[in-house]
Amino acid sequence: MADFHGYFILFLIWLISTIFIRSFLKSIRAKKLNLPPTLFSLPIIGHLHLLAPIPHQAFHKISLKYGPVFRLFLGSIPCVVTGSPEVAKEFLKTSENAYLDRPQNSAVAYLTYGSKDFSFAPYGSYWKFMKKIVMSQLLNGTTLDLLLPVRQDEINRFIKSLERKAKAGHAVDLDVELVKMTNNVISRMLMTERCSEEEDEAGEMKKLVTEIAEITGKFNLSDYIWIFKNLDLQGFGKQLKGIHGRFDALIERIMKEHEEARKQKTGVVKDLLNMLLDVAEDQSMEIKLTRENIKAFILDIFAAGTDTSAITTEWALSELINHPNIMKKAVEEIDKVVGKDRLLQESDIPNLPYLQAIVKETLRLHPTGPMIPRQSTEDCTIAGYHIPANTTIFVNVWALGRDPNHWENALEFRPERFEECHLDVRGQHFHMLPFGSGRRMCPGTSLALQVIHATLGCMIQCFEWKAGEDGKLIRVDMEEGVGITLPRANPLVCLPVARLNPIPLSI
Ligand code: HEM
Repeated sequence: MADFHGYFILFLIWLISTIFIRSFLKSIRAKKLNLPPTLFSLPIIGHLHLLAPIPHQAFHKISLKYGPVFRLFLGSIPCVVTGSPEVAKEFLKTSENAYLDRPQNSAVAYLTYGSKDFSFAPYGSYWKFMKKIVMSQLLNGTTLDLLLPVRQDEINRFIKSLERKAKAGHAVDLDVELVKMTNNVISRMLMTERCSEEEDEAGEMKKLVTEIAEITGKFNLSDYIWIFKNLDLQGFGKQLKGIHGRFDALIERIMKEHEEARKQKTGVVKDLLNMLLDVAEDQSMEIKLTRENIKAFILDIFAAGTDTSAITTEWALSELINHPNIMKKAVEEIDKVVGKDRLLQESDIPNLPYLQAIVKETLRLHPTGPMIPRQSTEDCTIAGYHIPANTTIFVNVWALGRDPNHWENALEFRPERFEECHLDVRGQHFHMLPFGSGRRMCPGTSLALQVIHATLGCMIQCFEWKAGEDGKLIRVDMEEGVGITLPRANPLVCLPVARLNPIPLSI
């Protein structure tokens, strides 16, 4: 026993001195290279333990002590984080060329048929080819106009279902209902299929999207800790295999239906899948789009485009419930511009500046892409510090929107600030980057803004919203939950009370 005690003390002395010598050597190296400041790190896990429970909040807290740009080790992966608009501008604009790749993640790589997708593709010929197709065909103004009836129809169905709940005096879980609606919009635009045909039956694709968001949002230890590289300690492998198999079976069935219709030359609709199949069949294209590229792209759009828009709308309504004066002003604007005889539609949005200001203020405080992940491909100097190649960069969008140097009363929800200064959200103003910036900026920005404005506008045009299961809550909590798309910690449950009777759905 005494022997064991002695060995244990020796082991502790060895461990502690190793940690100190290691961090001493590291700090000498960092000073010599002029790397950004860092914190004391633990062996093997680095700073991983500091990220819980919500990484963008943890990064913000660290920045209050260590300054606008700092360095961390997530396991063995070197990262640099910033929440400062000035430093974000250096990364995303001044030195953009060095930061156009994304960090890789084994779950995403597996689900996207071995990294055959667009969102995580390295900045190279395939990404450039797809970006051209996305901007000139798939998500451009003409396609969005062409698919407007699909979006309007889904919003009509959504409002109708809320009307039924209002009539029956039933509360609505907006977390579930909004995701169902945005899923249907994306699904019909992509491949003319609804995710949930039945009112209460969410489809397989919707379940898959939720599972994909969950598993790709979890920290996979084998991505960060080299000694676990080939081990699956969290059992992700089996789950990924299951999700991938189900997604592939579903998408194959839909692709085969599309291919059959194309062969028969009957019922070929202009959806995004048919546009992608056109590109794949076009022999004159400089890059041949494979079946796996198409399937991975569809997965990208589902993963990037559904939760984000739904959760933004949910945060916006939460803020409006907590700010009845702002809600009143928004409803008055809609009543004045749209009236009570027809449902608000996308073409009304340019005439609703206060509604636009509400959406901007929501995106400032609750950006559903709270961190922009990039990967450096060359050495660079940023904010006077040396940033080596192969460093993972996180721009903390959530912190940019709360920077007191750029926003007066930064934590206050006050849409009027956007009436006073005409800031846009398309990556030109580095203290407001909800859709990122530069060449890798979100290509779904216009679509997302159309869907969010129209959905929120219709919801407040048609209903009064009483918070809580019984409609008796005075305030809703604004706690953030865990997840890559900044969900609410607790779903927003409300009782809708019809304002317009009956709700007119003519468009
Ligand atoms: C409120 C809704 C949305 C938010 C807040 C959002 C936010 C973002 C952000 C922050 C990025 C990273 C940008 C960067 O690196 O600079 C991004 C990328 C992306 N988003 Fe969105 N997004 C939204 C909706 C959509 C929609 C509706 C789609 C498609 C239909 C979409 C598709 C994509 C894709 C494909 C990328 C990857 C682009 C690339 O790597 O080149 N997003 N989004």
